[in-house]
Amino acid sequence: MPLARSLSITSLSGLEEWDEEFDLEDAVLFEIAWEVANKVGGIYTVIQTKARLTAEEWGENYFLVGPYVESNVRTQVELIEPTNPALKRAIDKMNSSGCKVYFGRWLIEGSPYVVLIDVAFTAWNLDKWKKELWDNFSIGVPWFDREANDAVLFGFLTAWLLGEYAAQCEEPPHILAHFHEWLAGLGLALCRQRQLPVATIFTTHATLLGRYLCAGSVDFYNNLADFNVDKEAGDRQIYHRYCLERTAARCAHVFTTVSQITAVEAEHLLKRKPDIITPNGLNVKKFSAMHEFQNLHAQSKNRIQEFIRGHFYGHLDFNLDKCLFLFIAGRYEFSNKGADIFLEALARLNYLLRVNHSDVTVVAFFIMPARTNNFNVETLKGQAVRKQLWDTAQTVKERFGKKLYESLLVGQLPDVSKMLSKDDFTMMKRAIFATQRQCQPPICTHNMLEDSNDPILTCIRRIGLFNSSADRVKVIFHPEFLSSTSPLLPMDYEEFVRGCHLGVFPSYYEPWGYTPAECTVMGIPSISTNLSGFGCFMEEHIADPSAYGIYILDRRYRGVDESCNQLTSYLFQFCQQSRRARIIQRNRTERLSDLLDWRYLGRYYISARHMALAKAFPDTYFYQPHDSDTAQGFRYPRPASVPPSPSLSRHSSPRQSEAEEDDDRYDEDAEAEKDRLNIRQPLTLPSKKGPALPYTLPGIYEIL
Ligand code: UDP
Ligand code: G6P
Ligand code: GLC
Repeated sequence: MPLARSLSITSLSGLEEWDEEFDLEDAVLFEIAWEVANKVGGIYTVIQTKARLTAEEWGENYFLVGPYVESNVRTQVELIEPTNPALKRAIDKMNSSGCKVYFGRWLIEGSPYVVLIDVAFTAWNLDKWKKELWDNFSIGVPWFDREANDAVLFGFLTAWLLGEYAAQCEEPPHILAHFHEWLAGLGLALCRQRQLPVATIFTTHATLLGRYLCAGSVDFYNNLADFNVDKEAGDRQIYHRYCLERTAARCAHVFTTVSQITAVEAEHLLKRKPDIITPNGLNVKKFSAMHEFQNLHAQSKNRIQEFIRGHFYGHLDFNLDKCLFLFIAGRYEFSNKGADIFLEALARLNYLLRVNHSDVTVVAFFIMPARTNNFNVETLKGQAVRKQLWDTAQTVKERFGKKLYESLLVGQLPDVSKMLSKDDFTMMKRAIFATQRQCQPPICTHNMLEDSNDPILTCIRRIGLFNSSADRVKVIFHPEFLSSTSPLLPMDYEEFVRGCHLGVFPSYYEPWGYTPAECTVMGIPSISTNLSGFGCFMEEHIADPSAYGIYILDRRYRGVDESCNQLTSYLFQFCQQSRRARIIQRNRTERLSDLLDWRYLGRYYISARHMALAKAFPDTYFYQPHDSDTAQGFRYPRPASVPPSPSLSRHSSPRQSEAEEDDDRYDEDAEAEKDRLNIRQPLTLPSKKGPALPYTLPGIYEIL
């Protein structure tokens, strides 16, 4: 029986409401990615955060398909019997034919169903499938490329699953399969080649060639149209991967990518213009108390400060209260992620802070996973020494308290000179002696396997930022993603971000860039670039991004040195802000979160799905594209409380006395209210039915 499902996307503080009347009939959605329940990078974040909204729309007919990784399943997935009878038959059939396919619920918001396929278990098919790949697509995959071998196995297995599911359905099914990134792309090509009744979508989150070319010394953006793509892919030994990616993009009913900048790149490198752009959103949590996120910042900052106390033991000659925490995080692509210019800018900032006799100290964290051999001894020792000092202080405090109590019990004021015993002094002296150290506080928290070739360490050696006392900028390289179970810095990534002051992501190649988006929804200002999908998106939709703590570095029209100077000046300006200005800025940053909420951005995925269904099953589904020509000129207004002159807009409040400036109880409710009224003007958008489709994103706010 047809199941009428439609979705209403609610209005979010000023963002337009969107009701989509589209009867999904009996359609079933499979979303296929290597990062389903398997964290590698940002694609995991896309799938994981979007699941709730998609599950709301598709209910029991939504299945995520990914690889079976035992360690992930143990912690994230509850294995159950398949709920859908046709899918159960399909999985049983595959399992009785030598596969290992699991079904479960992914324990995240929305609890979506997952089908997890053990690709290694069917590796015995690899040669046969590679031959089929060669015979049908003329793509030859070399034996030594393990990732590509996985892509072949995963592709054939997902196509098998979809084909088997179609065969098990009693009525001709309407299957929609959404494939993410090249690693999952072969399944799509096989569905088309086998003419399965499947509407297909391919989303690329980056192009392989783009990533490789940018990582080299190529002037990428000025030569996009001129690359000989086959030769470039061949030179980099990724021709087979490139072919898999390009085949998926070409075969898909609907091709999408995450930003306008990657759409242009895809058009040139994959030779297909995306049908629609599907920007990445987040699952935004709103607190009932407006300033709750500020409190969380203070709590997390305290925990980072504790870590700093240990890390810099014996060298704590700076004021932690005047210490700013900056960070960069993400996959370790040194120049693509802009770690190169961040380091250079830090060296320049160090100089500026020193010559200006600033009392601010900056600690810059680099959270980028590299090959390591565990934590290094010196770093662990730092935390042990800190703990010992803490324990000593607690012991002395207890003894002191006991004596004080006893003296009060007999009605006497204590004799202060006798409150601490000789033993207490000995214990304290020993603890102080333990804080002596012969070396500078370490840069790297782990033992690196490739220490001498590591790009971050090599650059630090060149620029000489060695955490010496004279340096106003200190650097800590944590070459592993953060975890709350770490013995060193026991915080998960979200807590860590909340405790920092500024995220710095000066990427050269960044199709979207979740890291600055995550900062934004947590109310932490960030620096991104006009070469990142996120930066361009914010630039397009906010009248004065820097007033909201969204600094967008120009890496498109400036040379590296100039961009580096601009970055240095953003950092230096940031260091000059008072605490009060930072609090105001964080409030403003957080106010942008609706813009990045899946409840708003999910509509582009919905449109892509409807478009694909209508293309694949034109007798059942009809999709009406919407006018895009009126989609210009919608911008998130400058905060009403910012003075109109752009030069003043960076510093948001008039100058106060030192004491007032540092007043951390400052409450900017009045200002916030002013801004909210400004944003919540009634909006008139071109169409209530859905987003303007092809290519350009419609604007979001109209300034009336
Ligand atoms: N991330 C994480 N733990 C960390 C550092 C980063 O989980 O310690 C996540 C972060 O939350 C983000 C992702 O890594 O969602 C990086 O995604 P992004 O799109 O910025 O870049 P990618 O690595 O995919 O190129
Ligand atoms: C939040 C807290 C304040 C705290 C401030 C520190 O706003 O609510 O109590 O003083 O953070 O801000 P800072 O930018 O200095 O870390
Ligand atoms: C890729 C891109 C990154 C993007 C992520 C999610 O990993 O490198 O910029 O945010 O995919 O789309």
